[in-house]
Amino acid sequence: MPAIAIIGAQWGDEGKGKATDLLGSRVDYVVKFNGGNNAGHTVVIGDEKYALHLLPSGILSPNCTPVIGNGVVVDLDVLFEELDGLTARGVDVSKLRISASAHVIPSYNRALDKVTERFLGSRRLGTTGRGIGPTYADKMNRIGIRIQDLFDESILRKKVEGALDLKGQILTKVYNRRAPEVDEIVGELLAHVDRLRPMVCDTGLLLNQALVRDEIVLLEGGQATLLDVDHGTYPFVTSSSATSAGACTGSGIPPNRLDQVIGIIKAYTTRVGEGPFPTELFDDAGAHLSKIGAEFGVTTGRARRCGWYDSVIARYAARVNGVTDFVLTKLDVLTGFDQVPICVAYEVNGVRHDEMPVNQSDFHHAVPIYEYLPGWWEDISECRTFEELPANARAYVERAEELSGARISVVGVGPSRDATIVRHELL
Ligand code: GDP
Ligand code: IMO
Ligand code: MG
Repeated sequence: MPAIAIIGAQWGDEGKGKATDLLGSRVDYVVKFNGGNNAGHTVVIGDEKYALHLLPSGILSPNCTPVIGNGVVVDLDVLFEELDGLTARGVDVSKLRISASAHVIPSYNRALDKVTERFLGSRRLGTTGRGIGPTYADKMNRIGIRIQDLFDESILRKKVEGALDLKGQILTKVYNRRAPEVDEIVGELLAHVDRLRPMVCDTGLLLNQALVRDEIVLLEGGQATLLDVDHGTYPFVTSSSATSAGACTGSGIPPNRLDQVIGIIKAYTTRVGEGPFPTELFDDAGAHLSKIGAEFGVTTGRARRCGWYDSVIARYAARVNGVTDFVLTKLDVLTGFDQVPICVAYEVNGVRHDEMPVNQSDFHHAVPIYEYLPGWWEDISECRTFEELPANARAYVERAEELSGARISVVGVGPSRDATIVRHELL
């Protein structure tokens, strides 16, 4: 059986958590392969609402084994806080498995994330302040601390000493902050080691063996295509590989096992933090989307910037990820507009761009070229088949599909699990 990836197609918060939960009962493993507790996934099951950050959303599906892959960066305090919170709500978290090769986020990287943002001033990225960027930088710089290092105190101590040789100097000499002592960091990292030990294994082996047994592995992306460190709007990106190729490096599953890539895309667009966003709205329509769509970050509570659907980035996401199916979420939020624009291309200095401009500066100056579709006023939140949707809502989905480079197989009409229209079964 195959591995399937769920990937954000825009700038995050497309509804990946809900999509993962929808498939959760039909898959055997759900793997988080990138990012850390910068993510915020909301899952609504009946009257219960869960906000997940570090844990894969599959932790809420009783028959599925949740896995934190090698591509993730783990804040150990957050891990156990989240596990305890779910346990208190009756969720069985005992099946969680964590890669021995995942990196941990030491407290000095949280400090560095916050202080660098402050120093950048108007050039800041608007990070979540969780230490994500500095921890991935340490990984590439080969001074990171991995989960497996925690099981040998003398190795751990050497690695922390090595890292602090550099990072302590940066904190004190560049940013005029206190450098932590080696003992302090070692103590902090070892605080949960006994609870951690039984969860840790070679998750790459575990997942590949599962695939050999014909089990289904779902790879749940955090962040999104336009936040990917290679393919996103660099430098206004996160520091991990959030695209489908990252699903392989971040889990140890080879690319030829991945045969379905589900792109999650909102019926409009949002973005948290700084960076270019061609279809961003600054008017009443934007305020309406923000209010009706409840567009506030799950992790930082920041207001999300809102704008119209951008088919240029949809096509880009389809191409970069090899999207086989889109899940178009939050169509219900578009109810109540006379006209609903879709961005079909950009204009930059008098030149039309049907694809993402090669130069980032052009993307910063891209002016959307819109096609205007007639809106609808009917409440669609109770619709469960495509035919039940008003004709104009159907036409909107069909036009978005034509422009976006892959079929739209599922349409979301509300936050709950059942507020979903399936046009083509995903599994
Ligand atoms: P993620 O980070 O991609 O998992 O997305 P978030 O959970 O951060 O943000 C998506 C928000 O939209 C959550 O509050 C979901 O409950 C909600 N949501 C998901 N799908 C739909 C939908 O089809 N309609 C509406 N109204 N809300 C949705
Ligand atoms: P989910 O998984 C939306 C954004 C931050 C910032 C940039 C870098 O819920 O879709 P970081 O802390 O990662 O170094 O911040 O990336 N960002 C997200 N935006 N959804 C997310 O996750 C995000 N994770 C990071 O706002 O602009
Ligand atoms: Mg989110």
